[in-house]
Amino acid sequence: MSHNPVICAVDTTDVTLAKSLSDQLAGKVGALKLGLEFFTANGPAGVQQVANTQAPVFLDLKFHDIPNTVSKAVKATALLDTFILTVHTAGGCDMMKAAADAASDNTVKTGKRRPIVVGVTVLTSMDEKDLSGIGITVAVADQVKRLASLAQEAGLDGVVCSPHEIELIRKTCGRDFKLVVPGIRPAGSATGDQKRIMTPRQAVDLGADYLVIGRPITEAADPAAAAVAICSELR
Ligand code: C5P
Repeated sequence: MSHNPVICAVDTTDVTLAKSLSDQLAGKVGALKLGLEFFTANGPAGVQQVANTQAPVFLDLKFHDIPNTVSKAVKATALLDTFILTVHTAGGCDMMKAAADAASDNTVKTGKRRPIVVGVTVLTSMDEKDLSGIGITVAVADQVKRLASLAQEAGLDGVVCSPHEIELIRKTCGRDFKLVVPGIRPAGSATGDQKRIMTPRQAVDLGADYLVIGRPITEAADPAAAAVAICSELR
């Protein structure tokens, strides 16, 4: 693949730590993922401190609201030069369409590249029992497939999915739909709380476009060396 598919998940509220990782990983990963905890603690100013042209930001805020509000939220990210943005596919077709349109509007207004907007299908923390608790009585895989198709119909660029869903979604949505895949562990590294993992090579061979990898990089004695080693596994 021509791009660097490795995205480092910086799961922290600490700006100094995030900035240090950004400096160390600049040019060595494709992007840094900042989540809801970071944004809630530090706001857009915190994101701007961490963002670096050599390590763009994947802003993982998983927007889920009425279309008008999500549209405004996406528009409000315009100045952050975000590389990837997430929304919940459960927000429905109109909400996702509003997010995709707002991302395009940002590009027209700022002249910056358009962020890739991807959807979250079924959270991997939820199983069939959790789905039935919210009134969804189909198998998890069927719900993932349905929501991925809906995301594609709404004009999203892709979805976040577990390594074990790559084949199913590729078959359903085709080759151009972007798959952003967490739950990755380089061969021989600690699994932590991740249960259904794959190596970077396996996930890319199955069709992942981006790999979200946190602790194997952030908790390494030398995060830059860990990132370089992962990327070299992929060449
Ligand atoms: O440290 P680790 O590699 O497990 O971090 C994975 C990152 O991907 C974390 O930010 C986690 O919240 C996120 N993620 C995940 N599984 C999902 C969706 C997101 O691990 N299904």
